[in-house]
Amino acid sequence: MTTDRWARWVLSRRDGEDPALRRQFAPALHAYRDGVLARAAIRPGDVVLDVGTGAGLVGFGALERVGPDGRVIFNDVSAALLDECRRRAGDDPRCSFLHASADDLTGVADAAVDVVTTRSVLMYLADQRPAFAEFARVLRPGGRLSIFEPVNRFLVGRDEGRWLGLDLAPVADLVDKVQAVYRASEPDEAPIVAFDERDLLARVEQAGFTGIELDYRAQVGVLLDGPSPDWAAVRRTAPNPLVPTYEEAMEATLTGAERERLEDAIRERLAAGAPRRLTLATAYLRAVRP
Ligand SMILES: C[S@@+](CC[C@H](N)C(=O)[O-])C[C@H]1O[C@@H](n2cnc3c(N)ncnc32)[C@H](O)[C@@H]1O
Repeated sequence: MTTDRWARWVLSRRDGEDPALRRQFAPALHAYRDGVLARAAIRPGDVVLDVGTGAGLVGFGALERVGPDGRVIFNDVSAALLDECRRRAGDDPRCSFLHASADDLTGVADAAVDVVTTRSVLMYLADQRPAFAEFARVLRPGGRLSIFEPVNRFLVGRDEGRWLGLDLAPVADLVDKVQAVYRASEPDEAPIVAFDERDLLARVEQAGFTGIELDYRAQVGVLLDGPSPDWAAVRRTAPNPLVPTYEEAMEATLTGAERERLEDAIRERLAAGAPRRLTLATAYLRAVRP
């Protein structure tokens, strides 16, 4: 059962539980997972801690690499997501589960793990520094840290007039009303927008790591290929766990007639195969505990 906002998003609101959207998102998610795992350089026998594991995207990927003698500790603040990981792990004795916040991993002893991985979790912390200190504490000397985060700071002030990658200029007044909901829940100082790749670099250095490598990627107006998604499914999704779905945001801000005008415009563009353009920045960071 999904009982908290994290679980509701990871298991349901990320893709509206729509099989076609799930298939569409899968390649990017798998690429992020593989990017984190490749940088973690996991070896057979390693103990891996996946912080903010969600449904175990990175954690179960790590499990495939640690071999019969390795272990994976699945960590999350969401008990419901840890239950989902437990269900997926079955009776695999190599898996253990830690219900804790990334900035207080006291359930893990000092120098107890070979690898810490984390994907799209630091963005939700008001202060990332205690989490980096915890990563340094639980890693053994020579242990590796591998992180992926979207850099939402890069999006501030970009892509105005576009929504969901589409040019919606003729209904810009309505788009603006709906986007105001997201701007209000994510002001520039909100944790999810407040940092960039240089902050991540500074924090990993401040935590005493060495061998630091940052892979930053920015994409502006890149054409998305593949079939247009089904609006009926997309409207049930939310861009992250802390904000409303698109249908909730429309309901909160538009009259019935306005909603119809906006949704007709979106449906029409998607049906016509109008270009969808992606603007995104991401960062992978790997580092070694001296
Ligand atoms: C965007 S999801 C990413 C899940 C997973 N890492 C993945 O790659 O699919 C963010 C995850 O961070 C978890 N989370 C949020 N705040 C956290 C915290 N303070 N400590 C640990 N996990 C946290 C949420 O429960 C959720 O599972």
